[in-house]
Amino acid sequence: MNEFFNKDIISIKDFNKDQLEKIFSSTDKIMQLSPTERREICKGKTLGYLFYEPSTRTRLSFDSAMASVGGNSLGIADVSSSSTQKGESLADTVKIMSIYSDVLVLRHTLDGSSRFAAEVSEKPVINAGSGTEEHPTQAIQDLFTMKKEKKKIDGLKIGIVGDLKYGRTVYSLLYGLGNYDVDVRLISPESLRIRSDSVYEIKKKLDFTESTKLEDHIDDLDVLYVTRIQKERFPDEEEYLKVKGSYVVGLDLLKQMKDDSIIMHPLPRIDEISTDVDSTKNAKYFQQAEYGMHTRAALLGLTLNENGF
Ligand code: NCD
Repeated sequence: MNEFFNKDIISIKDFNKDQLEKIFSSTDKIMQLSPTERREICKGKTLGYLFYEPSTRTRLSFDSAMASVGGNSLGIADVSSSSTQKGESLADTVKIMSIYSDVLVLRHTLDGSSRFAAEVSEKPVINAGSGTEEHPTQAIQDLFTMKKEKKKIDGLKIGIVGDLKYGRTVYSLLYGLGNYDVDVRLISPESLRIRSDSVYEIKKKLDFTESTKLEDHIDDLDVLYVTRIQKERFPDEEEYLKVKGSYVVGLDLLKQMKDDSIIMHPLPRIDEISTDVDSTKNAKYFQQAEYGMHTRAALLGLTLNENGF
């Protein structure tokens, strides 16, 4: 039996290196199939999505991933148009959605929301972002991007820059990188350093340094992972204004980078990478978004087929 069958995907911490590598090889496999072969994988299956926070890529990539493997999607992309507005609880909404679908994809403002949803859902739950806590499928897509574009993950020097306090993609990525032998440099304004409650856990599996200066690391990195300052998660606007625009990756900075280094970003980008970087060979963030569709298709195929695909 395929070990991912009917399993929730709540935290990247639930996956070991061997399992991550299996997901990557399933993604490679799915990318090689013809559209007709691919559509057999989840034929007749339904994905239900429930988004309590805005999303473009994550929801659409799940949607298009499901279509590419022959399934269909339904759900609530904006809870303001649903019964949640009448006071329906998350538990009831999840229970109902799990009747209508074979797998549930949830994005919610609260940490712990996906774990809770998985407890009440009849069907497997995939966490598509839970508060500031985690975004495991983004990390799978990020690790896959490194593997495809740098041909390895072990040995990479990786700079992660921006909002390390509120950016949930950063936490999932760091937990995922803990399975590999990498050199990580965390770069952020002092007030947006990685949360101390997570440092202890991450330190057990990963070597990293912390700094405020991108210039000190830029010429040495294989991967620069840029993140958006998470304006909506700041308790007060003043604090946001103090750090807004702290790091901007432009062509000047790119010139200082190794020729074969890559720039990644989970997107959406606001102003932290200037658009003239987009057409350079180092910019991989749009490619990363495309890989996200394939990694999600592979995850759906594994979750919904007892014997894999
Ligand atoms: C990220 C998220 O929602 O955490 N977006 C995404 O899913 N690619 C990153 C962000 O919003 O900055």
